[in-house]
Amino acid sequence: MTDPSTAATVTPHAFRPESDAPLPAPVAWDGDAVTYLDQRALPFEVRLESARTVDEIVEAIATLAVRGAPCIGIFGAYGVALLRRSIPDDAAFAAAAARVRAARPTAVNLGWAVDRVLGAEDMLAEAQAIHREQEAIDEAIAQHGLELIPRNARIITHCNTGPIATGAGGTALGIVLAAHRAGKNPHVYVDETRPLLQGARLTEWELRLAGVDAVLQIDAAAAVVMAREKVDLVLVGADRIARNGDTANKIGTYALAVLASHHGIPLYVAAPRSSFDFALESGGGIPIEERDPREVTSFGGARIAEESAQVFNPAFDVTPRHLITAFVTEFGVVRPPYHESISALEKAREVLRLSR
Ligand code: MRU
Repeated sequence: MTDPSTAATVTPHAFRPESDAPLPAPVAWDGDAVTYLDQRALPFEVRLESARTVDEIVEAIATLAVRGAPCIGIFGAYGVALLRRSIPDDAAFAAAAARVRAARPTAVNLGWAVDRVLGAEDMLAEAQAIHREQEAIDEAIAQHGLELIPRNARIITHCNTGPIATGAGGTALGIVLAAHRAGKNPHVYVDETRPLLQGARLTEWELRLAGVDAVLQIDAAAAVVMAREKVDLVLVGADRIARNGDTANKIGTYALAVLASHHGIPLYVAAPRSSFDFALESGGGIPIEERDPREVTSFGGARIAEESAQVFNPAFDVTPRHLITAFVTEFGVVRPPYHESISALEKAREVLRLSR
């Protein structure tokens, strides 16, 4: 195993406010713990926490202290590497790793990253490799995505796909940040993203820190914005993409895709290859996480409905492939017909591995 004292932590380059005050990395290896930026406290408090035990690791993921598909993959990978050190008994370790793997069901990145670490000789080195790779992947996604962003683009985004969601440069928001750095002057309409407000709390904050022109709106305002504001594109992330292109992402993405189609606006999904589930033929097989009803019956800590109200609270929905104009991956822009282009993406990984 790698000596923790020599283990590098990764600080995402894009995760810097304009003031230059250093912010902690969303996830980092700390030798005897995995540290993380508690996203529940943002944007009002930059709170750094550490997880050491399986309960702490699972809780951080399940409560969305650490969130975003690639970021929970990296966190889970470090978590399992850490638990291998602290749990010598093989059966107990396997049970702990299984709990981490199942902490959230929809994002395929978590299971993918945990399995990669479990299959490695040196688990910590593998977790660090996954983290480092995400930097290069996000950078490549940003570069490929730039071609889709016109100058002065008006972009609607949903949920949060920035640096804190990937532990690196971000996916959909990484493209927006790259467009901003390239002088393209993007203007972003940020869906607040009910019920946990990742758009209001996190995306608006990340765009503000980067100096990107952003307007916060309630999710239901997307239709009128599309009708009136000459929106150029919708740009979102993904938690799991089936072989045929059906895509699970934050609840509300499907509604946005229907609206975009109605208004003739392209919708792009930016996601790394690790968000594709090549074992799944279509979106019907994607497990959708249903969360605590109290996320819906309360708002900002205040109750807004009877606690006994019957509630439907899926954390994700599935956007059918025909509503998706293209995917932006680290290998390039993937366009329909998806049964061909997504199969090619699966093989592209093998080519990349050979070249390493
Ligand atoms: O429940 P969350 O906040 O983890 O959901 C996050 C999303 O739906 C993101 O769009 C997705 O994970 C991509 S993050 C780059």
